[in-house]
Amino acid sequence: MRRSLIVGNWKMNTSFSEAVVLTTTIKKGTEHLDHIEVVLCPPFVWLLGIKEALRTHPPHFSLGAQDVYFEDEGAFTGEISSLMLKGLCRYVILGHSERRRLFGETDEIVNKKIKACLRSRLTPIVAVGEKKRLDLEHEFESEVKRLYDKGNVVPSLLESLKGLDKEEIREIVIAYEPIWAIGTNSPATGIYVNFVCDIIRKEIAKNWSEEVSQEVRILYGGSVDSTNAYEILHQPEIDGVLVGGASLKTREFLAIAKAAALKPDIRNA
Ligand code: PGA
Repeated sequence: MRRSLIVGNWKMNTSFSEAVVLTTTIKKGTEHLDHIEVVLCPPFVWLLGIKEALRTHPPHFSLGAQDVYFEDEGAFTGEISSLMLKGLCRYVILGHSERRRLFGETDEIVNKKIKACLRSRLTPIVAVGEKKRLDLEHEFESEVKRLYDKGNVVPSLLESLKGLDKEEIREIVIAYEPIWAIGTNSPATGIYVNFVCDIIRKEIAKNWSEEVSQEVRILYGGSVDSTNAYEILHQPEIDGVLVGGASLKTREFLAIAKAAALKPDIRNA
């Protein structure tokens, strides 16, 4: 069963008190939506305090981190290991384009981080996306080919997932995040996203198995808000959204979660 997953990536935002208010309000507003999953990813330093402030939460509501280092412990100043996150959160965003662009994160590093998360039983949310908007209307064949170019969506994803077996692939979530759509107020259309997510799913089927490809959740991220969430979320190949800016606004985020809750579950044949 592919349950819709709505993830809020707060990035480097919120004070501690803002973080607690945002979390408790969203928890309350999504309590009854138990057929979707809601994940909030605050900055590292707020995770423990939020967890304590929450005390209890329903199983469909959880916390995530925005990154992790791949070593378990040692002389790595400033870094946080998956062992440290274990018990604090359930998900970890990896390979976000901001980490790739600003902090030099490569597919090889993302691959090591995925393996570290899986060792600690944390669920990685692996982000990939193309830099330039595809012109699928006019240049269909060459543009689709572009998705397979070195450093683009497909090779980047396969490189990031290198060495994982079927069981491990089942445990991950993929976030398709076209870089040109992140923080630009210019989201991709539902049809566009569905098209690329379908290609991603077929690649999972080809490289692992059809069965696994039907289980892996593929999210979309890039300027999602209450005005476009329904159209995006109701595409067959899209299993949820990774929300940046709009996740900091309670009303917006709750409207997105409600749009997801209107989508029927997709079950395996
Ligand atoms: P955005 O960010 O929703 O603000 O575009 C998405 C992301 O960075 O994951």
